[in-house]
Amino acid sequence: MATDRILIFGDGQVGNFYLRYFSGSGYEVKLTSVDIASKEEVEIIIGEFRPTIAINCAGKTSLEWCVNNKLGAFNINVLGVDIIAQICDENDIYFVHLSSGCILESKDEFDTKNEETIPKPKSYYSLLKAWAEEMVVFKRSKKFKYLILRPRQPISSEINTKNMLVKMLTFTKFIDIPNNGTIIEDLMVWTEKLIQNRIVGVVHVVNTGWTTPYRMGLMLQKYVLSSLPVNKITKEELNTMNPEKRADAILDNSKLISIVGNVENYEKRIEEIIIKLAENFKIGDKDYIKDQLCG
Ligand SMILES: NC(=O)c1ccc[n+]([C@@H]2O[C@H](COP(=O)([O-])OP(=O)(O)OC[C@H]3O[C@@H](n4cnc5c(N)ncnc54)[C@H](OP(=O)(O)O)[C@@H]3O)[C@@H](O)[C@H]2O)c1
Repeated sequence: MATDRILIFGDGQVGNFYLRYFSGSGYEVKLTSVDIASKEEVEIIIGEFRPTIAINCAGKTSLEWCVNNKLGAFNINVLGVDIIAQICDENDIYFVHLSSGCILESKDEFDTKNEETIPKPKSYYSLLKAWAEEMVVFKRSKKFKYLILRPRQPISSEINTKNMLVKMLTFTKFIDIPNNGTIIEDLMVWTEKLIQNRIVGVVHVVNTGWTTPYRMGLMLQKYVLSSLPVNKITKEELNTMNPEKRADAILDNSKLISIVGNVENYEKRIEEIIIKLAENFKIGDKDYIKDQLCG
């Protein structure tokens, strides 16, 4: 029986998925785009909606924007999280925060990292994400209930400019380095189970197994765009194109499995999601699709 009142911060890719999923599952849900760096705005919306759960999906997610606007990014991605956590603690609201698996880095596919691994951020953005995790728990009361979710490169079958699969359709070169990742459609189901059980702590929310961006490129070529040029690029070359280093990580998801049960294989799910994406391209409004691809 869905009785929780869920307030979602952040009108972006994942926030909107949560809005649709929880609304469709019988919860009372509100998505807000109030500025999380403003204590006053966060207090007002929480006072008005009186949630039992707050999910924070808000934040600056461009690595380049964060490093070029260090103070602004810190204000939102760290202090904004502190503001929501503090208000949730004071009002007995269960706080769910979207962190990122990019605070960890693996040497290869065998070098898995679990929730106890000490973060080693490689970019300013991931440094802020690691810092925000500390902020969630810093000086909270003993009764404070929080959940930190660490997704990796969330992808879905939706056509929107934030979806990495859609962005990949504009690439010509792909690295062939193992990474695991998060199918957003699956993240919705896992999150519901985690919040129903009021799990406290950090959880790696990734599918089982791994793939590489190059292999994803080949699947996109097969199902969505046969003319997509899929060439390999080395990590060194990629780093010269993107000064903010992208992390490659294999996250251990055994904690997630122990709570939610079966977590589906990543490559199998990517193939299903890409087939669905191809269908969405066929039936979608052409002008909207063009906007998203150019966005
Ligand atoms: N996308 C990924 O690859 C990825 C990977 C791992 C973890 N995550 C984490 O998952 C969460 C959700 O990601 P997402 O993919 O949904 O990102 P997203 O689409 O960029 O959504 C974030 C939203 O927050 C908004 N925002 C920025 N500053 C804000 C502020 N001060 N107050 C309120 N809203 C603000 C953004 O608006 P603007 O667009 O106008 O800035 C955007 O609408 C983020 O915390 C992200 O760090 C994302």
